[in-house]
Amino acid sequence: MQRNFISITDLSKDDILSLLHDAARFEANPNQRLLEGKVVATLFFEPSTRTRLSFETAANRLGARVIGFSDPNSSSTSKGETLKDTIKMVSNYADVIVMRHYLEGAARYASEVTDVPIINAGDGANQHPSQTLLDLYSIWKTQGTLDDLDITMVGDLKYGRTVHSLLQALSFFNPRFHFIAPDLLRMPNGYRDFCNRHNLYFDESEVFDVNAIAHTDILYMTRIQKERFSDLREYEQVKNVYTLRNAMLAATKPNLRVLHPLPRVNEIAYDVDENPKAYYFQQAQNGLYAREAIICRMLNIDLK
Ligand code: CP
Repeated sequence: MQRNFISITDLSKDDILSLLHDAARFEANPNQRLLEGKVVATLFFEPSTRTRLSFETAANRLGARVIGFSDPNSSSTSKGETLKDTIKMVSNYADVIVMRHYLEGAARYASEVTDVPIINAGDGANQHPSQTLLDLYSIWKTQGTLDDLDITMVGDLKYGRTVHSLLQALSFFNPRFHFIAPDLLRMPNGYRDFCNRHNLYFDESEVFDVNAIAHTDILYMTRIQKERFSDLREYEQVKNVYTLRNAMLAATKPNLRVLHPLPRVNEIAYDVDENPKAYYFQQAQNGLYAREAIICRMLNIDLK
């Protein structure tokens, strides 16, 4: 595995499986002083709750110290400092840099201007590979396998970086994809081409109802990402397009689990939260273990 984690396609199938096994070991024992003396930087040029706090918790639970910012306006970016200079400066202080940026390709660019490992915590609408690791871990835990599953992705499949990364990672495991999105937010050509090149089954629909989810194993809901729209009139057209309600889950498979990278707005009604098939809060908890595994892998730290 490379020293940077920029795209989920940086990982082989063996890398993925090995990281999932590491995550399981961290779940069994999250507090280990494996990173004593290390400094982890978290540079968040876009808002975050789960990703930043779970990376920082992972670092703290492993004995590292954490530096960084959650608001770029509190950094010299607000004075006009470039991303290149910011990364070069932080590289003087930290052993690994976790960064989220609104520009697609920003993490890749950062990795080209420093020798310090870069972990992409989300770059625009492009990739969110650490989210994918925790999504895979959640699927693996709840289904007992990653192989041969029906995966239904619903909502903003155009701008949703989590579905883009997850689709590519699952390509190793013979999935059957069902994409449900309004035409405006359809899975982009590049990812449909990816499915075709890898002989992955997929179908597409704009209809989200009981029939659409009757045979699925994983129902992956996503938020319509207002912040990515250049024309807010288009956002207004689709903002309330789909809502999962508890009654819709009654006739679904017993093993179905509802995932969502969160935050949600209104695409999952609150009455779903108490349903045992709702898994999104545990999914976020799994982020801690997956991110402990990722940081250690980037720093070549062997688990005891
Ligand atoms: N899933 C996710 O990326 O959440 P945050 O935006 O809160 O980090």
